Amino acid sequence: MPPTPTHHARRLAAIGLFCASALMAPAHATTPRAPEVDSSALAPLANPEGETNPYRNDPRAIAIGRDAFNQSCASCHGVDADASRSPAPDLRRIGRICARVPEPDLKRRCLTDADVYFRSTVEKGKIKLGIEHMPPWKDILPTELIWAIRSFVETAQGQRR
Ligand code: HEC
Repeated sequence: MPPTPTHHARRLAAIGLFCASALMAPAHATTPRAPEVDSSALAPLANPEGETNPYRNDPRAIAIGRDAFNQSCASCHGVDADASRSPAPDLRRIGRICARVPEPDLKRRCLTDADVYFRSTVEKGKIKLGIEHMPPWKDILPTELIWAIRSFVETAQGQRR
């Protein structure tokens, strides 16, 4: 039976509705989840705009960062930052290459570069062509927690080759 005009109109309306809902709810949008952690043990930042992770290798920051990571980031980046079965990139490799730089001053700059990339990416999120691959965390995570998470992720690097 050929489609009647009403069939046709219904189908067009259905397509229109589908498109409208697709536009309103981008497929990848997620609500960022604030971690519930006690971050009071973290030393206040001497320089809140600083470009280098002030908590590198600090065991308390690493423990707090791990807790925050597993609450807020693990759903996409893997539990304990093991991304082998995760949809999102392995964060342990950010700055990994710096360990192989022998010259201390160059090594420091290499790590600062990685820190700047980490902090700014986390703050801004990853939005490409209007599609949100990762939500921005700027208003969710205080800078102290971003650095604590960075400290955790850096040590988690060593656990996998
Ligand atoms: C909803 C999933 C999701 C959550 C939750 C999430 N991310 Fe991401 N993240 C992604 C995806 C996907 C990418 C890769 C985006 C791209 O490059 O297109 C990414 C990229 C990144 C990058 C850049 C990685 C690189 O190799 O360039 C960093 C850093 C990062 N995320 C940190 C975090 C941290 C820290 C958290 C927790 C506070 C977090 N992400 C939570 C999905 C997520």
